[in-house]
Amino acid sequence: MKILVIGSGGREHALVWKLKQSPSVTQIYCAPGNAGIGLDCTNVDIAATDFPKLIKFVQKEKIDLTVVGPEVPLVQGIVDEFQKVGLRIFGPTKKAAELEGSKKFAKEIMRKANVPTADFRVFTNSAEAISYIEEREEGDRFVIKADGLAAGKGVTVCDSNEEARDAIRRMLLHKEFGEAGQRIVIEDRLVGEEASLLAFVDGNTIVPLEAAQDHKAAHDGDTGPNTGGMGAYSPTPIVNDEIIDTVVEKILVPMVHEMNKEGRPFRGCLYAGLMLTNQGPKVLEFNVRLGDPETQAVLMRLKSDLAQIMYACAEGKLDQIEPLEWDPRPSLCVVMASAGYPGDYEKGLPIRGLDDAALVPDTKVFHAGTRRVGEQIVNDGGRVLGVTAIGDTISDAKLRAYQAVKCIRWDGAWCRKDISDKANRY
Ligand code: AMP
Ligand code: GLY
Repeated sequence: MKILVIGSGGREHALVWKLKQSPSVTQIYCAPGNAGIGLDCTNVDIAATDFPKLIKFVQKEKIDLTVVGPEVPLVQGIVDEFQKVGLRIFGPTKKAAELEGSKKFAKEIMRKANVPTADFRVFTNSAEAISYIEEREEGDRFVIKADGLAAGKGVTVCDSNEEARDAIRRMLLHKEFGEAGQRIVIEDRLVGEEASLLAFVDGNTIVPLEAAQDHKAAHDGDTGPNTGGMGAYSPTPIVNDEIIDTVVEKILVPMVHEMNKEGRPFRGCLYAGLMLTNQGPKVLEFNVRLGDPETQAVLMRLKSDLAQIMYACAEGKLDQIEPLEWDPRPSLCVVMASAGYPGDYEKGLPIRGLDDAALVPDTKVFHAGTRRVGEQIVNDGGRVLGVTAIGDTISDAKLRAYQAVKCIRWDGAWCRKDISDKANRY
């Protein structure tokens, strides 16, 4: 089987690495890929949203399966374009991807499906949004979300009404997120622990993966600004089998049914971002793709043949696959970032020590924002590397991952030092 992976981040590197282990896979390409992906497969210099060029490449190379990593091409309808010309592709159609592309759509369909999630209201007018907040009870706390895609930055979790008013004005009046923020969702703020549960869904059958916990805040102890994710580990002790069963029964099954009812059958990876509250798990958001950096940690533990699973999913035949097999050992991914991230940062700085890091046992350095310049690998994004390790215990995995992190250097490189420490709290 020949596979094309679309995207250029750590998630895509992990996908390439895992797919390559499938005995049925003869060749893998990645468009556009990055420096590390280029060491594990062949990079193709086509942007993730250049659908005509991607289709031409897939037809010419007779690719059997295309796997889409990021949300942007999905929300723009890459799956529909591929399917129009009879090409097999892993991911949801444009209508199904709206679950991530519009928070309003996601919240409304959750309400219809009776899926537990925070109460919400939708606004386009800032004065109305502000009076809604002011009329609520003193002490109520809110989360303000831009409706459309904003690269993970369109959410403000507010500690006071003043912050909420400020976020409303920034989005609706000052157009901080452009079109994406011209409509906002105001949600009640939930309290609890967060976890991510990803599932392969083929429109009917749901195959949940092992749960993971992301670390969204930039600094240790979950402080600092929100990022794309500074690290993850799997499994997480807060999500036991009973909680997974509850999430499948109360969240995933009703969502899959409701999407079918609305004529938007979901096929691909459905990612439920959860808050585990006193009243049980509630949905913070749905994503329509694998998570980054959850994928790096989760795929390191998957023993089953990923290419066969994704192929079956794209064909609507997930009911025919064997139950997933997992390495019981925990895994963990530490993200190394550029100085300044999640704000502005300098690119093009040479990265040293990757060869030494590669010698640390049971560890794999997945590349996210890297680029090759001649013989050198340089940083090319905010999140640069996802140093991922597996160990007999979570502390073993942590020790290994940070041992590899220590080998790697570039000007200003930093990471959180406490990835997975939350596991000890439960
Ligand atoms: P989202 O992109 O919708 O998942 O939001 C990003 C982050 O904001 C989440 O990972 C949570 O940390 C936080 N968040 C979102 N919605 C809520 C909510 N209703 N209550 C508390 N925190 C939230
Ligand atoms: N880890 C968060 C995300 O993939 O959206």
